[in-house]
Amino acid sequence: MNREDFPILQHDLIYFDNGATTLKPQCMIDAVVDYYSNYTANAHRGDYDNSLKVDLLYEGVRTKVQHLIDAESSNEIVFTKGCTESLNMVVFGFMKNYLQPGDEVLITKAEHASNVLPWLELEKKMGIVVKYIPLSETNEVTMERLEQTVTSRTKVISLAQVTNVIGDLRPVEQIGEFCEKHHILFVVDGAQSVPHMKVSVRDMKADFFTFSAHKMTGPTGVGVLYGKYELLQAMEPLEVGGGMNSFFESDGTFAYHDAPSKFDAGTPNIAGVIGFGAAIDFLQSIGLDKIHEHELELKRYLVQELEKVPGITVYNKEVDGAIVAFNIDGVFSQDTAVYLNHYHICVRAGNHCAKMLKDEIKVKNTCRISFYLYNTKEEIDRLIAVLQNKEELYNTIL
Ligand code: ALA
Repeated sequence: MNREDFPILQHDLIYFDNGATTLKPQCMIDAVVDYYSNYTANAHRGDYDNSLKVDLLYEGVRTKVQHLIDAESSNEIVFTKGCTESLNMVVFGFMKNYLQPGDEVLITKAEHASNVLPWLELEKKMGIVVKYIPLSETNEVTMERLEQTVTSRTKVISLAQVTNVIGDLRPVEQIGEFCEKHHILFVVDGAQSVPHMKVSVRDMKADFFTFSAHKMTGPTGVGVLYGKYELLQAMEPLEVGGGMNSFFESDGTFAYHDAPSKFDAGTPNIAGVIGFGAAIDFLQSIGLDKIHEHELELKRYLVQELEKVPGITVYNKEVDGAIVAFNIDGVFSQDTAVYLNHYHICVRAGNHCAKMLKDEIKVKNTCRISFYLYNTKEEIDRLIAVLQNKEELYNTIL
């Protein structure tokens, strides 16, 4: 759907690496170019027309994001440079002061590096304990396994809503309910969910929620940190400077603005945020439900067609999502990716930054196909034709 909106698709390209980043529609590119061409100004600093226009648009995107994820207030939306920065802010701006040595944080071995390494840093530096919820036979999180892992020391559960290799959708509403009842903070990494489906931070009772613009047709270098307002107020900014303070004096006194402004030190990525607003409008004009349905249909079709090709293992057949992880038996995943590249088919190969997942799925590297709205069954047919000819793989790439 909407392929004509993506200039890059005029090239001979089958883009199946949407979990890494998505293609960009003309309306988003135009919004960025318009800011640079016609009304460049800084935000929150000027008293002239272009500056006021920038303020209005920039803050307008905060409200768009609020509605996109169903937050209570736009003051709960912080712009960051990406999901990784958002998760780092949660851990080093808030959890570092909130947690005590011995407190437990629950994650899984399927989490992305951005939701593992900040916690491992805290474990090393202050003695919190990182524990892993064991996954089910289909590599999913179940309430039963989660509840069995929780102890009286569990203070935080931090999970992706949708994982980036298996692509499973976690039962976040049930988990949020459980966390609220047991006074556990619930951190949700929405990098692979927000681009593909409607989400509600209130329904899942998330305390913090994070995602990136570039995985949803927006520009690179823009992300979101959602936090319940009282938590954002308690969070320390990791960067301080201009634009986020109320005063500072030579006697050493100073004060910062309230959230979200206290997290806006320095000039923000204005063009990026404005482009992000255009991306949100674009996705909403199509409908996230429609995008989700389309991707599920593509996933089921791909799994069905891959089953007709002998010698291919799919690691996540059972889960519904926009992602298929597979290998050609006996072939290194990166060799498969290089072979597919020969036919202008873009996939990601490797461990996909989920380096502990190998303990669960018993394989270190996979090829990953991740769909978005513009992918088609015809593209899948072309991929299958190339895979059917896989005896030619080494002749092609060597
Ligand atoms: N997190 C991105 C991915 O899964 C980069 O590919």
